[in-house]
Amino acid sequence: MKIIVKDDPLELGKAAGHAAAQMIRRIINEKDRANIILATGTSQFETLSQLTKEDLDWSKVTMFHLDEYIGLPESSPASFRKYLKKRFIQKIARLRDIFLINGEEDPVKECLRLGEIIKKNPVDLALVGIGENGHLGFNDPPADFETKEPFIVTELEVKCRNQQLGEGWFKTIDEVPLRAITMSIHQIMKSGQVLCSVPDSRKAHAVQECFENEVSNLFPASILQTHPDCICFLDKFSASLLKKNTFERWL
Ligand code: GLP
Repeated sequence: MKIIVKDDPLELGKAAGHAAAQMIRRIINEKDRANIILATGTSQFETLSQLTKEDLDWSKVTMFHLDEYIGLPESSPASFRKYLKKRFIQKIARLRDIFLINGEEDPVKECLRLGEIIKKNPVDLALVGIGENGHLGFNDPPADFETKEPFIVTELEVKCRNQQLGEGWFKTIDEVPLRAITMSIHQIMKSGQVLCSVPDSRKAHAVQECFENEVSNLFPASILQTHPDCICFLDKFSASLLKKNTFERWL
């Protein structure tokens, strides 16, 4: 794993989006197509914005969706399908294929449906973020590090639900769904490359726990320490609690 620190969320997003585009270009050059995972949430705003401005042959790119609430209609402002359509899909040329998670379907069947597709389409690059509770996707602590199922149903813990409320996606805590469908930790870690975008001082504690301590399912994104090809983009706010020797360790 490698850590890169930028000045602010905008600079972070420009660097991360540009790096993602370079990775996708290289993958297309090698394989003539690329399979990517996109995350959502506030942490991805600037990264996705930059990625949509890049000159890429999108017709060779297949997109998977990291996580989605169960039972939330696409008309809700908090819907991650809506988010990806508005902030990514509608801004670029036609993709080769798009596999969004439909949280309004039977969740077990939806996990199986997407699982069958992703098994046939190994993922080259995953764009992810880290939650205030250290989650990766919607794998809230204590995350299941063992399951080999590609997509799973998870319970959302109160800290995660409060983060979504605090970011303004919902008006009251009761509106925040209790469950979600998420790509599993095992499936995220199978990606050839992982690019993690983590801006904001709200994430400083989670970043410290994930990158300074041992890998633990209580801070699920700590698993990224063990990925062979992972770059984590921070800004000076999310990196503010890291010690000097942590930067040296992840140079
Ligand atoms: C969110 C999203 C994920 C995202 C992660 C980071 O809740 N469901 O797709 O990667 O958790 O959180 P955020 O970007 O909201 O800070």
